Amino acid sequence: MGERAQSATLSPSCWSFLAIAKPMPRLAPVIMATLFMDINGKVALITGGAKRVGREIALEIARRGARIAVHYRSSEAEAKAVAGASGTVFHADLTDVVSIDKMIRGVEEEFGGLDILINNASVFSPATADDATPEHWDMQMDTNAKGPFFLAQRAAALMRIRGAGKIINIADVAGEVIWPSYLPYSVSKAALIAVNRGLAKAYAPQIQVNAIAPGPILFPEYYTEEQKQAAIERTLLKRAGSPRDVVNAVVFLIESDYVTGEMIHVDGGRHIM
Ligand SMILES: NC(=O)c1ccc[n+]([C@@H]2O[C@H](COP(=O)([O-])OP(=O)(O)OC[C@H]3O[C@@H](n4cnc5c(N)ncnc54)[C@H](OP(=O)(O)O)[C@@H]3O)[C@@H](O)[C@H]2O)c1
Repeated sequence: MGERAQSATLSPSCWSFLAIAKPMPRLAPVIMATLFMDINGKVALITGGAKRVGREIALEIARRGARIAVHYRSSEAEAKAVAGASGTVFHADLTDVVSIDKMIRGVEEEFGGLDILINNASVFSPATADDATPEHWDMQMDTNAKGPFFLAQRAAALMRIRGAGKIINIADVAGEVIWPSYLPYSVSKAALIAVNRGLAKAYAPQIQVNAIAPGPILFPEYYTEEQKQAAIERTLLKRAGSPRDVVNAVVFLIESDYVTGEMIHVDGGRHIM
C-alpha cells in the first residue's frame, strides 16, 4: 500500500458503512474509494498567506492541524503573525523563478516535504486594451499564471516523493467572463485556469489539481461604494461573499481525492449571469 493510502483517513460516515460492510469483504475496493486526505499533520504552502483571503485559508488549514508555510512578498510582519509558533514564513517574488526555487528549497529543508500548495497570491491591476503596456502585461502574467505554474512544477516534485499531493489554484470568474477594464488581469486568470487543467492531466493520478473562481469577496481598498455596488449587482445572490466561502471550498478540495481538473465557482452565481 502506498503512502497516499496509508496517510488517508476514513470519514465518520465511512465508519458506519464499514460496520455494515464487515461481513462482505468483496466491498473492499468501494471502501478504498472513500479515502480522503486528512489535513492534520500535512505540510501546506500558501502563497500570499499574510493577508485577506490567503490569511484566512492559512489559518483554517493550521487550525485543522497542518504545518503551514506562509509565503509573503512584502507583508513579513503579517505573515509571521499568521504562521505563529508552529508555522514558518517564506519570502518570494513570484515573478522571479529563482526566488520560487529558493522558497521551495526552504520549505523542503524546514518541513522535509510538501503535501498541499495553495496558489493564492495575485496582482489585480486595471488596464484596458488601449492602455495596457508590455510591462503591465508581464507583471500580470508572471504573477498570476507563470509564477503559479513554476511553483506547482517545483511543488509537484516534492509531492511525488510522498506519492500524493493537492494543488489548488485561486483563479477568478474574470478569467472566464473577461473584464475589459482589467484585460491583462483577466487573461492572466484565464491562463491560470488553463494551467489548472493542464497540470491536473500532467500530475494525475498521484496529485489532484483544482481551482476556485471567486467572485466579489474582499474588495480592493481603492474601490468606491459605486464600484462595490456594481460588482454586487452582477451576482445572482446580490451580496459579496466572505473569505470563509473560499476557505470552505479549499477544505473540500483538499479532502476530495476523486476531484481533479475542476474549478469551483464561489461567486454568488456571477459566472452564469
Ligand atoms: N478578493 C476578492 O474578492 C477576489 C475575487 C476574485 C478572485 N480573487 C482571487 O483570490 C486570491 C486572493 O485574493 P485577495 O484579494 O486576498 O488577494 P490580494 O490581496 O490582491 O493579494 C494577495 C497577496 O498576493 C501577494 N503578491 C502580489 N504580487 C506578488 C508577487 N509578485 N510575488 C509574490 N506575492 C505577490 C501580496 O503579498 P504581500 O502582501 O506579501 O506583498 C498580496 O498580499 C487572488 O488570487 C485573487 O485573484 C479574489
